[in-house]
Amino acid sequence: MNKNLYIQSYGCAMNFSDSEIVASILKKENYSLSNKIETADLVLINTCSIREKAEETVRKRLETVNIHKKNKPDMVIGILGCMAERLKEKLLNEEKVVDIVAGPDSYRDLPNLVRNVVEKNEKSVNTILSLEETYENIEPVRINSNGISAFISIMRGCDNMCSFCVVPYTRGRERSRNPESIVNEAKNLYNKGYREVTLLGQNVDSFKWSPTQNNKIKLEKESKSEDIVYFSDLLEMTAKVSPDLRIRFSTSHPKDITNDVLKVIKKYENVCNYIHLPAQSGNSRILKKMNRTYNREWYLSKIKDIKSIVGNSCAISSDFIAGFCSESEVEHMDTLTLMDNVLYDYSYMYYYSDRPGTLAHKKYDDDIPLEIKKKRLSEIVKKQNKHSLIRNELKIDNQYKILVEGYSKKSDKFFRGKTSENKMVIFRKKNNLIGKYVDVKIKECNSATLFGELC
Ligand code: SAM
Ligand code: SF4
Ligand code: F3S
Repeated sequence: MNKNLYIQSYGCAMNFSDSEIVASILKKENYSLSNKIETADLVLINTCSIREKAEETVRKRLETVNIHKKNKPDMVIGILGCMAERLKEKLLNEEKVVDIVAGPDSYRDLPNLVRNVVEKNEKSVNTILSLEETYENIEPVRINSNGISAFISIMRGCDNMCSFCVVPYTRGRERSRNPESIVNEAKNLYNKGYREVTLLGQNVDSFKWSPTQNNKIKLEKESKSEDIVYFSDLLEMTAKVSPDLRIRFSTSHPKDITNDVLKVIKKYENVCNYIHLPAQSGNSRILKKMNRTYNREWYLSKIKDIKSIVGNSCAISSDFIAGFCSESEVEHMDTLTLMDNVLYDYSYMYYYSDRPGTLAHKKYDDDIPLEIKKKRLSEIVKKQNKHSLIRNELKIDNQYKILVEGYSKKSDKFFRGKTSENKMVIFRKKNNLIGKYVDVKIKECNSATLFGELC
């Protein structure tokens, strides 16, 4: 009998991509996706723990889920993802509405976990982390896709232990997926009409795979061998699928992005001219406390490499954390001057949120008052908006190849699409161009969007 699955995702692209794997696993159990929570047999919330606020959002959402469950008492409720992994069975006690807690490496077990609830009326938990799981043989059900661009997960976990971050605890050790399965997924997507793929991982540049042993822990014991596939190799292999398939990737840790990767970006027109290279802070003492393993000068030398190998037009974005433990006003100013120096195209900006279990939580005082954190964050945001506008203004009167993704959100008389540099462009609709490449001349812009005319 067919059953309805409602799945909602929070957090980063990895979570959205995982939900597509979950939908695929449950499809085999006769669960079809539905966007109506009120009639769903199974409700899954894929959660994020990165900041306190992310967890509060999920707990608020569970209050409304509870109302739906009261109207449909046989509804099964599951919590997936990072919050499930961080809180484990504690979540069952704290949130009575929850029946299933499943961490990011346990999704193959979901059919059993659901059966436990439905058939035995037992709540079930699986938060075992794996050294091998990459879900490589599971074809995702493309929930988050417009039929033009899709995510491909290439690795899981993170070994970096940045002191502020919960990810190493919620996602486990780094492991890379078989490159052949990645390239095949890209080929299949291309054959179905997709024109852009984003290779996903918390730290894509540490992708490393050998034919005999596919996890990094074992690989580190080996000497460098020609058989090993590094991220630059994978990028090139994916770029060769078709010149009409755009390749993006996220996220790069500054310490791992190599000149080989930069050379592949330069060599292939379809490898997008855009790098997300999170700095977090512009001050070397704070970077050391964050355990980022680079300092300000080293980061700036990476930016120089990007500009000299890929070129000045390469778009660069960053993440910043305002008000990390013990950050002084002068150290905060270093973040602002780093931004002046790099002139980022855009950034994701946050104020520091103390996370239980992290190194920073154990070692340092979260001693910057909230109003100071917020003030510093607003200064970072203000600067970024100014820089985004400057970077966008440079595009005016130039012509760019745009991949048309759909209608503008504000009007169906206009199309929207992206440049290789990941800039959103809006232009007047003509014919059916969705999924096609077109040339657009940029006429105007604001800090977020370019406006142009078809050439
Ligand atoms: N792997 C990526 C990297 O190393 O840059 C980052 C992934 S993390 C999911 C996304 C961003 O969340 C981080 O770059 C950082 O800026 C932010 N973040 C992580 N932990 C945080 C915390 N405790 N408080 C505030 N922001 C945080
Ligand atoms: Fe978190 Fe650092 Fe890993 Fe990124 S690299 S996921 S910030 S620990
Ligand atoms: Fe959040 Fe987990 Fe991603 S903590 S940002 S969903 S890896």
